[in-house]
Amino acid sequence: MPGLSGRKYRARAFGLRLGAGRGRGRSDEWRRQWRRRDGWGRMLRWRLRVPLTRARRQVHSSQSRLGDKVSMAIYALWNNKGGVGKSYLTFQIASEYARTHQNQKVLVIDLCPQANASSMLLGGITVGERNLVKLSTTSPRQTISGYVEQRIISPYQNPKVGSGFALNVNAFNKRIAKNLFLIVGDEELEVQASRVSNATRPGPAQAWRLVHGWISDLIADVRKSWNVKESESAVFIDCNPSFSIYTELAMSASDRLIIPFSADGSCKRAVRAVLSLLYGITSRLLRNSSPIGSTARLASV
Ligand SMILES: Nc1ncnc2c1ncn2[C@@H]1O[C@H](COP(=O)(O)OP(=O)(O)OP(=O)(O)O)[C@@H](O)[C@H]1O
Ligand SMILES: [Mg+2]
Repeated sequence: MPGLSGRKYRARAFGLRLGAGRGRGRSDEWRRQWRRRDGWGRMLRWRLRVPLTRARRQVHSSQSRLGDKVSMAIYALWNNKGGVGKSYLTFQIASEYARTHQNQKVLVIDLCPQANASSMLLGGITVGERNLVKLSTTSPRQTISGYVEQRIISPYQNPKVGSGFALNVNAFNKRIAKNLFLIVGDEELEVQASRVSNATRPGPAQAWRLVHGWISDLIADVRKSWNVKESESAVFIDCNPSFSIYTELAMSASDRLIIPFSADGSCKRAVRAVLSLLYGITSRLLRNSSPIGSTARLASV
């Protein structure tokens, strides 16, 4: 439209009568044009452009700040109270994580002699139990106990046999994604506990540290066999409902702890015990601090 420029030109092109109240003087034709030209989308994109760009830049810069230090997440699920959902949550989280991160490898280590998480992953009540029996009656056992047995024979020298004990769960249970691997739990672990504890005492000066690195060694072996970057894998460790030697091994190997609990007094005491055992946080400290304070203190440990 010659003779018109800027605001007036655009107003005429869209049939807008300048000076009229906002939206009231706009013609139907203008509204149709607005919709056809994705007016709302454009306006929203423009309005969101700045904050989104800023947020994206922050995320990217924090990722690049972390750089190669972004490491594989190793989660332990533990509460020294029984029946709070540790195994069920391990099963759920690991299965769902594997399903939604098909480009990653996921490892579940069942460090509970009850092997409930293994049973669920291997097919559930009947099939899962049958598979458990099959795997724990081979020689050597295709379970965590098979690995621990190897380490009891060679406690201070890593035989690097861990990857041989990781099973692809999909071979047993087609409902589970192909990228989920399992170190099967075994009741024999309970029997082996005293021999593992004994291995921490005699031997070289670093006996305690070397034995407490067995599960870390196992994870390293499996990860090496996967041949993926650290950041492209995740590990979930299901723990037993007490504080035994293999709980110590699990805690030493993991870098994050998930504490399932229910809302009752005994769980409150159990969570206090966990915090006290792992972080040295006493009941008095917990009573005197707000939840946020406790979290901040935990984060700094
Ligand atoms: N979110 C949930 N909803 C309903 N039922 C659940 C849930 N989580 C766990 N359960 C049920 O609670 C019971 C105990 O769960 P689970 O075996 O996972 O606990 P746990 O903490 O691993 O026990 P333990 O200390 O004996 O190893 C199971 O029967 C399980 O099916
Ligand atoms: Mg359990």
